[in-house]
Amino acid sequence: MTELFTRRKFLANTGASAGAGLLLGASGVKAAMMAVGGRDSSGTPLKSLAERKGLLYGTAATEHKLTDQAYADVVIRECDLMVPELALKWEALRPSPSTYDFSGADWTLHFAQQHKMQFRGHALVWHLALPKWFNSYATPQNAKELLQSHITTVVSRYAGKMESWDVINEALLPSDKRPDGLRIQPWLQLAGPDYIEMAFRAANAADPKALLVWNENWLEEDTVGAEHKRQYFLQNLKRLLSRSVPVHAIGLQSHLKADHPNIAGPQFQQFLSQVSGMGLKILVTELDVADDKLPNDFTTRDQAVANVYSQYLNTVLAQKAVVAVITWGLSNKYTWITNQNPRSDGAPVRPLPFDENMEPTAAYSAIAQALENAPSR
Ligand code: G3I
Repeated sequence: MTELFTRRKFLANTGASAGAGLLLGASGVKAAMMAVGGRDSSGTPLKSLAERKGLLYGTAATEHKLTDQAYADVVIRECDLMVPELALKWEALRPSPSTYDFSGADWTLHFAQQHKMQFRGHALVWHLALPKWFNSYATPQNAKELLQSHITTVVSRYAGKMESWDVINEALLPSDKRPDGLRIQPWLQLAGPDYIEMAFRAANAADPKALLVWNENWLEEDTVGAEHKRQYFLQNLKRLLSRSVPVHAIGLQSHLKADHPNIAGPQFQQFLSQVSGMGLKILVTELDVADDKLPNDFTTRDQAVANVYSQYLNTVLAQKAVVAVITWGLSNKYTWITNQNPRSDGAPVRPLPFDENMEPTAAYSAIAQALENAPSR
C-alpha cells in the first residue's frame, strides 16, 4: 500500500502546530518527515527489511486488540512473527488445577497462520501472571509434577508450530543475594533451583523443533546492576550447557527508557559476544522505549525515542547471533506502558513504531534504518 504522507497526518504525528504545516507543501511534508525519521509510510514493511537480512520482525499482540481492523492491518503488513501478550501465560491457560483454556492461544495461532506469520510462546515459567488458585494449591510435594505436566501439555499441543518458546522468564534477581543469582520466587521455593533444567528438558521433549529461550529483563544498560545480572546469566547458562540442557537462545526483553543514556554500551556488547561464543542465539523479545520522563512535545519525544531505537538496534543487530526483533506491541494505541509507566502530565505515551492512528512514527524509521544497516545472517 503506497500512501503519501498528507500534511494532516504528518502534523498529527509530530504534534507540530497547524501554522508549520501550512508552510509545507505535500512534498515539503514528505521531505520534513524524511528529515525527522528518514522514511515515510510508503516504505518497505519491516518484516521485508528483516527478511532480507535473515532476521524476523514481529510483535506481541492479544486477540481483543487484533479485532481492531486498522491495527490488525498494520500487524499483518509489518510483521512475520507474533507472540501472544497474555494467552500462553498460566493466568490465561489454567482456570483450575485440572483444566486448560487454550481458546486465546488457539485464536492467536490461527490469526498468525492465516497471515503466514511465525508464532512464539511466552512464557512457560514465570513468577507473575499465575492463576489465583496457584498459591493455595502448589506445594513442595506437587510443584515439580505441576510444572512438568503444564509444560508437556501446553508445548505438545503446539508442537511443530512454534518458532520458539520463552521457557524461563525473569528468573534472575541478584538483589536476592543467592550465589546463583536466581530470583527467590514460588517455582524456586517449591521445586528447587533445578526447576530451570527441568523446564527446558520438558519443553524439548514435547517439541524438539522449537527454539528454547531463557528470557530476561534489565540487561541492556552499562550499569553495575545490569552487569551483575549479565554475569549471573552467563554463569547459569554455562552450567546448563555443561549439563547438556537444551537451552538454545536468550531473550533480551529490551524494555528501554528514553531518559537512560548508557544503553547498549561496551559491557553489554561484550555480553552479547560471550553469549554468541557459547553457541546460543539471541532474540530481542519485548522491545519498546518508555518516554514517560521526556518533555511533552511530540517532535522532541519522538526523535529521542527514535534515537534510542537506533542506538540500541544498530548495536544489537551488528551481532549475527541475533535472529529476531520483536516489539512489545506495534502501535501506541495498545501498549502496556500506558498503564505501567504513565506520564505525570497525563499525555499519551509514544513508545512504539506506529501512533494511535496507525501512522508510522520516527521510531518506525529508526527500526527500518537499523534493519537496512544490519549485516546479513
Ligand atoms: O483484561 C483484564 C480486564 O478485563 C480487567 O478489567 C483488568 C483489570 O484487572 O485486567 C485486564 O487484564 C490485564 C491484562 O494485562 C490486559 O490488560 C491484567 O490484569 C494485567 O496483569 C496484564 O498485564 C500484562 C502483564 O505482562 C502480566 O501478564 C501486560 O499486558 C503485558 O504487557 C505484560 O508483559 C510482560 C511480559 O509478559 C514479561 N516481561 C514484562 C512485560 C511487561 O510487564
